[in-house]
Amino acid sequence: MDRRKFLGTAALAAGSAQAAPQLAVEGGTPVRSKPLRADYWGPQYYDEKERQQLNDVLETGRPFRWYGRGSEPPMKVATFEKEFAAWMRTRYALGVTSGTAALHTAMAALQIGPGDEVILPAWTWHSCYDAVVHAGALPVFAEIDESFNLDPSDIERRITPQTKVIMAVHLQGNPADLDRILPIARKHKLKLLEDCAQSVGGSYKGRPLGSIGDIGIYSLQLNKTITAGEGGAVVTNDPVIFERAARYHDLGGLRDLHEKVVGKPQLDWFAGTNFRMNEFSGGVLLAQLRKLEEIVSSVRASARRVYDGVRDLPGIKFRQLPDPAGELGSGVFMEFRSKQQCEKFMAAMRAEGVPVSRPGGSVILPTLPYIVNKVTVHPAWPSFTSARGRAIQYGAAACPRTIDILSRFAGPSLDPKYTRRETDDIVAAIRKVYPAIARA
Ligand SMILES: Cc1ncc(COP(=O)(O)O)c(C=O)c1O
Repeated sequence: MDRRKFLGTAALAAGSAQAAPQLAVEGGTPVRSKPLRADYWGPQYYDEKERQQLNDVLETGRPFRWYGRGSEPPMKVATFEKEFAAWMRTRYALGVTSGTAALHTAMAALQIGPGDEVILPAWTWHSCYDAVVHAGALPVFAEIDESFNLDPSDIERRITPQTKVIMAVHLQGNPADLDRILPIARKHKLKLLEDCAQSVGGSYKGRPLGSIGDIGIYSLQLNKTITAGEGGAVVTNDPVIFERAARYHDLGGLRDLHEKVVGKPQLDWFAGTNFRMNEFSGGVLLAQLRKLEEIVSSVRASARRVYDGVRDLPGIKFRQLPDPAGELGSGVFMEFRSKQQCEKFMAAMRAEGVPVSRPGGSVILPTLPYIVNKVTVHPAWPSFTSARGRAIQYGAAACPRTIDILSRFAGPSLDPKYTRRETDDIVAAIRKVYPAIARA
């Protein structure tokens, strides 16, 4: 045996001879005495830049985006839109009041209404379902896969002659498998809406999320990558889709600035609503947008350290990542054989001072009573009065795979401000707990 092989074998023998450390849940010393806590991302980056933006608006007394004191229109939201479009590499961007408002705007921009159907994942946020119902259209759920996103192999059987849109939601920082979803949309002449609310700043094969489908939406609420507390945005490369979005968000009219952006208007007034972003939000979001690159690289680096620190553990299986380089890295999720095994892992990690959780930030929508019972603000809501709307059945039977997958994954949330010591603790806790739980 040569010296290198001998040393390797000796190290292996020493390793296996070492007793496994006693888990904290069984009375051992925890990895951390003070539990690790992830924080909201955007506010950790608030500094003079955001303060300056807010002061500008206060001192000039110009909180409304279209006009105010002075002869020139205020420019915070306008500049945010310009820089957001540049960041997302799209022709157009529109600032709105929330991600939910962005979804409503997207439905209007794609001309979705009564009689139409929209396919969306069974695990996502209420707003996705609400926007479809408020448009008077019918939400049709498809299963998720181990990426926690729309399962491309479950989409086609949900398509009917009424289907108009596939809503690909990039959930919890992970891009959906667009290489498989986009061709399905194109084959059936459906629009692809990318909901990037939970993945602002993520990318897919080098392209910013939201820029690949026909329209993209973002949330800029507190739990998202950058924030003004509330806020949202819509992006597209299509001038008519943009014009309809801009009109819808502002009572059906088109202001000078957006008219300049679209060139020659192609639509007339219609009944819209008011989802206009104000200048305080626009200023804060502009300051935050200029830090987006920094926040994303930092959280990605934290996630990478965790993946790299544990990927050699025998049997370990992570959430499916259709593009690992594009993932935001908001969590590192591991798969377990059963719900019980997953629960044991969570309890043992908590005892180590490194809390982990099941995939979060979304709900298994088809199981919620208001959805099962198709409750709407008016009993004659068009979504559910058509033959299809009356016949469609929601409930747990609509998404058994989604329920199973989400019960068997857990992992730590990551924070862009975690120190190396903190990510090392996450790695140490997983290395201590995972083998013991996986073996049992
Ligand atoms: C996937 C998804 N879409 C849309 C939204 C709505 O965003 P907002 O809270 O800004 O209205 C959220 C919010 O969490 C979300 O997670």
